[in-house]
Amino acid sequence: MSATIRKRIETLRREIQRHNRLYYEDAAPEISDAEFDALLRELAELEAKHPQYRRPDSPTQRVGGAPDQAFPSVRHAVPMLSLDNTYNVDELRAFHDRVLKLLAEEEPRYVLEPKLDGVAVSLHYAGGRYTRAVTRGDGRTGDDVTRNVGTLRGLPQRVRAAWPEFEVRGEIYMPVSDFERINAARDAAGEKPFANPRNATAGSLKMLDREAVAQRPMTLFVYQLVEAEAHGLTSHWQVLQALRKSGFPVNPHNRRCRDVDAVLAAIDSLRAERDHLDYQIDGVVIKVDSLPQQRELGATAKAPRWGIAFKYEAEQAETRVNDILLQVGRTGVVTPVAELEPVWLTGVTITRATLHNRDEIERLDVRVGDSVVIERGGDVIPKVVRVLEQKRRGREKHFRFPKKCPSCKTLLVEAEDEVAIRCENPSCPQQLQRRLEHFASRSAMDIAGLGSQNVHLLLERGLVRDFADLYRLRVEDLLQLDRFAEKSARNLVDAIAASRERPWRNKLFALGIRHVGVSSAAVLASRYPDLDSLLQAGEEELQELEDVGPRVAASIVSFLHARGNRRLLDELRELGVLGPEHRRPAVAQSLAGLTFVLTGTLAHMTRHEAQAAIEARGGRVTSSVSKKTDYVVIGADSGSKAEKARALGRPILDEAAFADMLQRA
Ligand code: IVH
Repeated sequence: MSATIRKRIETLRREIQRHNRLYYEDAAPEISDAEFDALLRELAELEAKHPQYRRPDSPTQRVGGAPDQAFPSVRHAVPMLSLDNTYNVDELRAFHDRVLKLLAEEEPRYVLEPKLDGVAVSLHYAGGRYTRAVTRGDGRTGDDVTRNVGTLRGLPQRVRAAWPEFEVRGEIYMPVSDFERINAARDAAGEKPFANPRNATAGSLKMLDREAVAQRPMTLFVYQLVEAEAHGLTSHWQVLQALRKSGFPVNPHNRRCRDVDAVLAAIDSLRAERDHLDYQIDGVVIKVDSLPQQRELGATAKAPRWGIAFKYEAEQAETRVNDILLQVGRTGVVTPVAELEPVWLTGVTITRATLHNRDEIERLDVRVGDSVVIERGGDVIPKVVRVLEQKRRGREKHFRFPKKCPSCKTLLVEAEDEVAIRCENPSCPQQLQRRLEHFASRSAMDIAGLGSQNVHLLLERGLVRDFADLYRLRVEDLLQLDRFAEKSARNLVDAIAASRERPWRNKLFALGIRHVGVSSAAVLASRYPDLDSLLQAGEEELQELEDVGPRVAASIVSFLHARGNRRLLDELRELGVLGPEHRRPAVAQSLAGLTFVLTGTLAHMTRHEAQAAIEARGGRVTSSVSKKTDYVVIGADSGSKAEKARALGRPILDEAAFADMLQRA
């Protein structure tokens, strides 16, 4: 018995960590918030019942994902906590009862705020000026995104605040109307659209090119002043007013509520307005108003006891299924999709909904012509939740799941231990299309200009049959196609050639091995520095890696050793895409052990290029100047860090001296 419980606890922890990574680091969640919360609750309950299995590093004790390496890490002076969720009135009343009990029956007032579905950020101001922005990260340490956040329209660069130095927190989001415009443009350019505005925001904030970030229409609302009592305020409502007066964007839908009934009424009235807002909200946040009461209630390691989120149910709409189509994914999985009578739902017109797999069609008993209820969580792609059987008129048609692949007519295969039905023909045209799109995508080989339309064209004209063929394309080949002129053809050939320089972890991800996502590819790449060492690894050895279970290990080994793939890998090696002989010459580790701080704007390189150059030579870049800093590199408009360096007597390099150091290194 106890072994089964321990196993379940371990599985839950692993799964939750994986979903945390997908959500926070990859900005590509696979499950809804409600599903995630259900896993977390199950784990918390098991841990409560079986305290012998509690661990300080359990996801029930921590918030979110780990910080991103591409942006310098910054430790939060006050941790950025998360909020517990409630889903119905009873749970909300239970929260209120807990608050009452802890406050020895002293009735609290509440503030209710829309819960924006965006990206949390902490903003620092000194002397009325914006100085720094840090993401939540794992709650203790986040990423320095000062430059990117500095481009946001809604961000005040200067404020009229009464406090000399302070930190405010809020949510960065992308308005729904802008999100749709961007997605339409991505679609037209053959790029993969974002699943929802939150992913678009998270992805945009992590771009390395500041100019590109500035093109992304993001803005923010603030909802917290860190250590507000120390700034002389006594209620959260006062905080919100003070922030608005100082020039910060504060959500106009925030409400002060005298008691829990007023909270419930405000929840209902905001639900009714939800569709008319130009941003996605997934619920509301309810906070105890009095700051002394907040202090008395305190927090757990993960969330405050003075606040809670109330999640709205996913929005639903009724429509008709006009047809059921099948899509073949890059790993051959065949997914049924319902073509719908267009219907308006949470601000967008919906024309398709996923039906997941054949079992789901059977479970729902959905037929072509049926009236159905569809539901949209946070994502663009909704799902069919149920059929309105009372609306059937006898003309609806049962859907027969075909025996053959809709793209290549190969007999479909049903694996015993999976619900998925797949096409196992490695040269199936639709799979090839998806595999090539994946190969060229941003987190993989990042080949600009190779979107779905160009992939389609190359496949259709027989110019490309696999990844290796891409690297054999010549400008003359492309010039045969109407779509290409001399310049665009040259650009594409160059972009493909340049992708040889992508890091090994991207290449590994690009291969599209089943169950190997961005994060497991990175884990594999750091353990196995090249293709040859990975080819030597057996299933058992692979399973020793964090994140690699038996299923993933088996999939890697079978991919790498399948005959067709071996030939492909060899060809990619010959073409200089994979393999140790084509790695860039090692850079001498001349800056090993040295710590740098970068400040101000350099004229000839971006901050990230400077950081990469230091790291490639073995040095480290940190964000704040201390006695341990070896060099401070200053560019134009460098501020307090340069002063601090002088005060601490740390060596300062201007851009020319820094370039010189890199040259010699
Ligand atoms: S207060 C310690 N207020 O929801 C309390 N959070 O699930 C921290 N969020 O990390 C947050 N709107 O990203 C707060 N009005 C609001 C919010 C809000 C959205 C997000 C925020 C936070 C997450 C917690």
